[in-house]
Amino acid sequence: MSDQPLTSQRHATRAFSDRSVNHTTLRTIIKEAQAAPSWENTQPWKAYLATGQVAKHLRQSHLERNRQGQKSWTEVMPLKKDQWAAFPQANLDAWRQNMLAFYGDDAPKFAAVQRDLFNAPVLAYLTMPKDSSAYSAYDLGAFGYGILLAAQNHGLGGVPAYELVRYPEEIHQAFDIPDDQVIFMGLALGYPADSKLNQLRTTRRPLDDILTIAD
Ligand SMILES: Cc1cc2nc3c(=O)[nH]c(=O)nc-3n(C[C@H](O)[C@H](O)[C@H](O)COP(=O)(O)O)c2cc1C
Repeated sequence: MSDQPLTSQRHATRAFSDRSVNHTTLRTIIKEAQAAPSWENTQPWKAYLATGQVAKHLRQSHLERNRQGQKSWTEVMPLKKDQWAAFPQANLDAWRQNMLAFYGDDAPKFAAVQRDLFNAPVLAYLTMPKDSSAYSAYDLGAFGYGILLAAQNHGLGGVPAYELVRYPEEIHQAFDIPDDQVIFMGLALGYPADSKLNQLRTTRRPLDDILTIAD
């Protein structure tokens, strides 16, 4: 048992053991994450989980699309590299430098595990209604973070990954997702493997860079 707060124990897990995650555990994790707050309790989120053969098929399909160099797009588009505001851009640059310095010659492995979706036994896709405002995106993020913390609490690891949603058609083939839903984010989940891929640690800005208290 760690005496660190759960929020400090969690970090991105990008390599998973072969151990499968039973559906009872997954249902418990999602149920716990449902406690997330949302605008007037609107709970705009839905979760679609792939395990077993469905997850295997999605990983293979993703790898194949990557091999073919298939152009990706997502149902919610991120900003392009030069469009970020200076503050997040500086953090992004620092993250990249830290990641490259930590992995050194192993840096290509970091890119490689993205292509087969981290070989994760559980792939979770989070959707919200297409006509949502940014407030629902806020709610969905809280739900996703809740999933990661609940997973941590049950001995699992995970990573939220844009990579998972780069080819929405493969997700639509796996699930019957209604047309009025947008696939927003994906999370890879499972039991962590003993791997350097899981040893990358990230820092946060000094508290006073982001916090203002007026008294
Ligand atoms: C919206 C979002 C998208 C992300 N996409 C990816 C991704 O595609 N691949 C990846 O390896 N990590 C991805 N991450 C994980 C971040 O890199 C990671 O959370 C961040 O560097 C902080 O590290 P930590 O989670 O270990 O604290 C994503 C995280 C978020 C919140």
